[in-house]
Amino acid sequence: MKIGILTSGGDCPGLNAVIRGIVLKGTTSYDLEFVGIRDGWRGVVEGDFMPLTRHEVKGLSKIGGTILGTSRTNPYEGERGGAENIAKTLYGHKIDGIVAIGGEGTLAAADRLAKDGLNVLGVPKTIDNDLRATDYSFGFDTAVNIATDAMDRLRTTGDSHQRCMVAEVMGRHVGWIALHAGMAAGAHVICIPEVPMSIDEITELVTSAHDRGRAPLVVVSEGFKLEGMDEAFSDKGLDAFNRPRLGGIGDQLAPAIERITGIETRATILGHIQRGGSPSGFDRVLATRLGLHAADAIVEGAWGKMVAMKGTDIVRVPFEEALGELNTVPRYRYDEAAALFG
Ligand code: F6P
Repeated sequence: MKIGILTSGGDCPGLNAVIRGIVLKGTTSYDLEFVGIRDGWRGVVEGDFMPLTRHEVKGLSKIGGTILGTSRTNPYEGERGGAENIAKTLYGHKIDGIVAIGGEGTLAAADRLAKDGLNVLGVPKTIDNDLRATDYSFGFDTAVNIATDAMDRLRTTGDSHQRCMVAEVMGRHVGWIALHAGMAAGAHVICIPEVPMSIDEITELVTSAHDRGRAPLVVVSEGFKLEGMDEAFSDKGLDAFNRPRLGGIGDQLAPAIERITGIETRATILGHIQRGGSPSGFDRVLATRLGLHAADAIVEGAWGKMVAMKGTDIVRVPFEEALGELNTVPRYRYDEAAALFG
């Protein structure tokens, strides 16, 4: 049996480890043959494939990014898109099935293709940890480690200057990275999309940390929205902050905190650094195990499913379980972290 593997959506540390896990198990324990699909669904639609043998996956678990490349192409768009065209392309290349490694968008497309009769298996991927149906997704632990290390560094420079440091981390819709990295680094304020906070609540916590002789550390998810921000600022006569949103939320919060508290404040936006470089040991193991189990699922014909982590086990779940609602931070998890704000 010949299987195509693709990685789609934003890249994520651990993608290569999944690919290696699938190929090693598939070729040694089973008699599977693999091809790499270049740049996610684009490669499926355009029939752009590359060799994927044991040789190509050698030493790959520690390498960040994805050797297959990635894109945000929708397989149902374009002249050569759609299930029927894709089925023809795969048939022409004697490919019997696809393993799609990706986040919500990728898995939604995989689900649709599977329902349209193609052999598709999913592997969940997101540094944001926002997918349901898997307790953790690889990439998240690495991102948290990078963000924690960055905040430890921000604290020493903040301490030296008695400044408030604002760190913006990734998390478009959910605050898992901010919550975990903020808790690990001992942040004095954590702002996440799931928990509304006003500028007054934030600055009170900042002032209180400062009054205790600490250099306040504020961690904010990129998806956090300060409710009534413009109104709050203009009420305080802070016209300077009613500017168009040029930077991220961190760039908006820092000057506001400085103006309201009088504490010198700096913002750092960690951005794509959180997604680059080698995966952590935890992510290498998780990604590899998902790959091994994906190979088992292929030979057992478990198409239309996704491998996932439940507790410490790898299980198979229908795509629908991962789609729809996001895995948001529950309030009790936020309250645990908030108990440490002081
Ligand atoms: O979903 C993962 C993620 O890293 C988000 O945290 C972030 O908002 C987004 O991808 C960035 O996407 P891009 O690399 O396309 O700018």
